[in-house]
Amino acid sequence: MQKSVIKLGLMGLGTVGTGVVKIIQNNGDQLERKVGAKLEIAKVLVRDINKPRDVELPHGVLTANPRDIIDNPDIDIVVELMGGLSPAGELVLEAMQNGKSVVTANKDLVAQAGKELFERAEAVNCDLLFEASVGGGIPIIRPLKQCLAANRIQKVMGIINGTTNYMLTKMTQEGSDFSEVLAEAQAKGYAEADPTADVEGYDAARKLAILASIAFNTRVTFSDVHVEGITKITAHDIQYAKELGCIIKLLGIAKEDNDKVEVRVHPTFVPKDHPIASVNDVFNAIFVTGDAVGDTMFFGRGAGELPTASAVAADIMDAALNILKDDRGRIACTCFEHKELKPMDEVESKFYIRLLVADRPGVLAAIASAFGDQQVSLQSVIQKENLGDKAEVVLVTHRTKEGYIRKALKTLEAMEAVEEISNVIRVEGNGK
Ligand code: NAP
Ligand code: HSE
Repeated sequence: MQKSVIKLGLMGLGTVGTGVVKIIQNNGDQLERKVGAKLEIAKVLVRDINKPRDVELPHGVLTANPRDIIDNPDIDIVVELMGGLSPAGELVLEAMQNGKSVVTANKDLVAQAGKELFERAEAVNCDLLFEASVGGGIPIIRPLKQCLAANRIQKVMGIINGTTNYMLTKMTQEGSDFSEVLAEAQAKGYAEADPTADVEGYDAARKLAILASIAFNTRVTFSDVHVEGITKITAHDIQYAKELGCIIKLLGIAKEDNDKVEVRVHPTFVPKDHPIASVNDVFNAIFVTGDAVGDTMFFGRGAGELPTASAVAADIMDAALNILKDDRGRIACTCFEHKELKPMDEVESKFYIRLLVADRPGVLAAIASAFGDQQVSLQSVIQKENLGDKAEVVLVTHRTKEGYIRKALKTLEAMEAVEEISNVIRVEGNGK
């Protein structure tokens, strides 16, 4: 006989866990009609069962013992919302081994241990769903795996970290510097007390590894991603970007070219007329290009209690439906190919380069020839600020391989007339 109740074991009742409980409590009737069974929160794992909570749960539901969930034969779906690699990873593996479907929002875990987790899910034929791990409430994992499945995906490019997007938006709108906006973002609760994972680009790199793995059907892990954060971006760079008709965004970019995959997270000059340039504040957006569908963009809230819980709850509903239809393990791992990573030296882009140089005849010509020697063509040169006997020079190159830029920069470093290479930022765009 078909089950009339699907029992859930939540591991974590923080921001996202609380949101999931609220959705199940508030929209439970609708969820039940859509799934065909009631979703019951049977157990919730926390560290401290005496801590005040934003949601009310029946007596005995909260527990500090993971065994109450993992070894509980009544629990059908384990929902991992505790975060981190351990003990979350071990608990998820054990839960699957014990026959439970798993839903998680944990990008750290999926980006680092995805292979082991999916192998286990396949071996025991259960669901492992992780829609909320990238882009919070934005549907992107399922669209990539299902709705766009008939395409060869050529490119995935996204703003996949809300904290840094908020900070760059403020810097652009107010002309303020990095440290000022970081303090403001922390005061508003967007940036954490330790903002490293966000501002250094690690959070975005984890999400990009997940997206690239799905888009290109090959396993990409966090350590495969070239990562640069936003800590070196100054009000000066933002101003120059505006003059060049661009906005600076922290982008995750993944492309496939001749069976080689490039994956990188870095601040990027984005032309103002690109749809992603107008994605501001804490919003996220993911721009996906497929050979059949062309360009698509997915936009919304990439974090927060209810937006993230929206994606988690939908995964729970899917996992529940699959249990009821006895159709688990259908949305399996799609990494069935092995593609090489493209070395960063071979990655092509345009570059913005800001230099502090001696302000005297012949210096610009020497700089231009350092680039010319590497076959790098310059698109524009701006020299505006004269600081005593020094001048700030901004160059924008035509599209070139990163390796050539690195060699040219080495030559510049050795030039007596070049005081400082102040910043180097890639410029996105299809032009030459
Ligand atoms: P959080 O607010 O820090 O909550 C974590 C919860 O897990 C807390 O309830 C905590 O218990 C519990 N917990 C942690 N370690 C535990 C342990 N060893 N044993 C028992 N309980 C433990 O985290 P969150 O922001 O909800 O994030 C949860 C997951 O969702 C993470 O993987 C995160 O990356 C992902 N995510 C979050 C967002 C977001 O907007 N927050 C967006 C997308 C994805 P106590 O309450 O007792 O401390
Ligand atoms: N810290 C992330 C962000 C949210 O700022 O987008 C969780 O993924």
